Amino acid sequence: NLPKNVTIIEVGPRDGLQNEQSFVDTDVKKEFIRLLAASGIKEMEITSFVSPKWVPQMRDAAEIVHTAPDGVRSIVLAPNRRGVDRVRETSVKSVAVFVGVSNTFNKKNINKPTKESMEELKPVISELKKKNYFVRACISTAFYCPYEGKIAESDTVSLCREFAEAGVDELSVADTIGMAVPTESFSLFSKVKKELPELMVAAHFHDTRKTALANIFAALQAGIDRFDTSAGGLGGCPFAPGATGNVATEDVVYMLQRMGIDTGIDLDKLTEAIDLIAPAVSRPINTGYYQLAGTS
Ligand code: HMG
Ligand code: MG
Repeated sequence: NLPKNVTIIEVGPRDGLQNEQSFVDTDVKKEFIRLLAASGIKEMEITSFVSPKWVPQMRDAAEIVHTAPDGVRSIVLAPNRRGVDRVRETSVKSVAVFVGVSNTFNKKNINKPTKESMEELKPVISELKKKNYFVRACISTAFYCPYEGKIAESDTVSLCREFAEAGVDELSVADTIGMAVPTESFSLFSKVKKELPELMVAAHFHDTRKTALANIFAALQAGIDRFDTSAGGLGGCPFAPGATGNVATEDVVYMLQRMGIDTGIDLDKLTEAIDLIAPAVSRPINTGYYQLAGTS
């Protein structure tokens, strides 16, 4: 019962770069986005309209929002009304809001308790839907929190339901610090799919403990066919200590292709995007597929 096609939502330009200490040149970001699109990626988190004081790496957001070619869904993150207002000054038509299930994490990330974030975002989501925006809700700390530890499945499912009732088109359910294991992935995604069968649901795994590919396989079995991944395995949230990179796009695409599941992504072209970004980032890119690329 595995799907024949899977949609990859590339989060490299956003999650991948937000945690980089030295500023990645705006032109390099733009070329990265273009090469990712050229590899066949159709949905991408391009950047985020967050406070430049909090996340200096995203301070050039307004300059790069329009980089991806037509035919690619460009998604921009916004933490609050101010962020959404900034998106509405552009021609971008997809917004991702983000909230943590864990209250402590939400305060560290957005400077507000989860409940206050939801009170601010619900009317904003409804306004966006009236204007025909595509709205994605990223649910952080869906499994574990770096401050509060294990998160109850029922709390994550409740927050998913709250967003569904607020009218979002898609949920992206995240293992922010890469602690989940496949049994937890299968269990949570089965419940979310059962509760909200009509909603698009993506899984967002960080690969801190190398369980992400196994978690993806478990999520596939629970009926998930959308995955957030990051080229080169870059990524991590600056306000989640211990968070390392997202699961690498190339490793996920390789695995799915070998399983006969189509993603529409060309691995050779994806490698060109990673070749471009590798010298611009501080950490070595040592993902499985990329290390072997060009050697066989
Ligand atoms: P704050 O300091 O409480 O903000 O930060 P404020 O409302 O008090 O405003 C203070 C100043 O910031 C004001 O400017 C505002 O205009 C400005 P001033 O009057 O001093 O000149 N401001 C903004 N500027 C630009 N864009 C905005 C914005 N909002 C206020 N949107 C705030 C609150 C939410 C802004 C801050 O906490 C913030 O920017 N947080 C973002 C944190 C972040 O980007 N985290 C990473 C993304 S989430 C993630 O990675 C997880 C995910 O991958 C899933 C997973 O793996 O879990 C999605
Ligand atoms: Mg993330």
